[in-house]
Amino acid sequence: MSSAALLNELRLAQELVMALLEPIQDDSYRRQYHPDLSPLGWHLGHCTYTECYWLQEVVLGDNRFTAPVADIYTAGVTPKPERGARLPALDVLIQWTLGMQSLNAETLETSPAALTDHPLMQDDYLLHFLIQHYSQHYENMLAILTQCALTPATAAFETSRPIRSSPLRQDRISVPAGHYRVGGTAPTACDNELPAQQATLGPCEIARNPVSNSEYLAFMEAGAYEDASHWNEAGWQWQLQQQAGAPEHWRQDNAGNWYGIGVRGAYELDGDDAVHGISHYEATAFAAWAGGRLPHEHQWEVACRLQFLQQTGRVWEWCENPFYPYAGFKAFPYEGYSKPWFDNHHYSLRGGSLHTRPAIKRVSFRNFHTPEKRHIFAGLRLAW
Ligand code: AVJ
Ligand code: FE
Repeated sequence: MSSAALLNELRLAQELVMALLEPIQDDSYRRQYHPDLSPLGWHLGHCTYTECYWLQEVVLGDNRFTAPVADIYTAGVTPKPERGARLPALDVLIQWTLGMQSLNAETLETSPAALTDHPLMQDDYLLHFLIQHYSQHYENMLAILTQCALTPATAAFETSRPIRSSPLRQDRISVPAGHYRVGGTAPTACDNELPAQQATLGPCEIARNPVSNSEYLAFMEAGAYEDASHWNEAGWQWQLQQQAGAPEHWRQDNAGNWYGIGVRGAYELDGDDAVHGISHYEATAFAAWAGGRLPHEHQWEVACRLQFLQQTGRVWEWCENPFYPYAGFKAFPYEGYSKPWFDNHHYSLRGGSLHTRPAIKRVSFRNFHTPEKRHIFAGLRLAW
């Protein structure tokens, strides 16, 4: 992609994030709807700050714009519950963002030598990074809006096309044993996708499609949420506390039929759609109940490269393995993007959800979350 096309992509990514705040008329941009999710307004400020940090402070050596707001918008400095109160008024936040974005766009378009000579600018690396950064926070913001929709006492919803459980589809495909290339390529790849690896796979089978809502309903109706035999140790401890019985955003109407809650409120579930709203614990229990397992992320990537997989990019797909560094891993552009999360408590996810921007949806992209997370639009695909 040319630099001009990338600048357009950046503008689009900025506008999509901004558009999520436009309907807001009250103080809800300061509110925290979920313990793991910062307020909506913080995501906008953090995206703007991040853009200024890399471009103005790191590349051009000017911290005038970033220093005053660094402690609120640097991830991990101000605790999440304190972020809302520290945000400026929404119109101030928006005006600051628009001003900084146009200053940065001007810097990028006029390309002063100090900019073009900087290592971070080679092959437009920083543009790729910023586009993907906005895109990731865009998805986080849609997760917040979904949590917000889940908060109110649910208005009565009458399901007109209730989903029914269905037996597991037997649509598996064999991945031949062999040596395969996995991993990303610069300048789009994140640090955790590099260096590209040779993965040695034994023979395996993988499902052509992710697990559907109807298949998941069969797991629920079989009483699997109450049967410890399908759960691993940590998963059963989680379930004893959580008392989950359905994906996070599923609700039952008066007739006992299931419907979903999404960003735009209640909606009819489609039995054939990929299930999401489940933790790694639930995904693992489902796989055990179904007589399969979760794929290793390299089985997923190889099967996807071989064009064996259908319906990728509908839901994030939990993988069996913890998130780990590839041999030869080097952190960039900063330590905190991947390295702190190689802690054996984060699991890799592949593919992307309906809320994931195209800039992120690539075969080598590795998402990562702790196993109890349910708000991240994640489901699963079986392997054997
Ligand atoms: C890799 C998607 C879990 O959104 O928290 C954003 C990506 N890193 N800003 C997140 C990220 C820094 C991260 N995930
Ligand atoms: Fe970020």
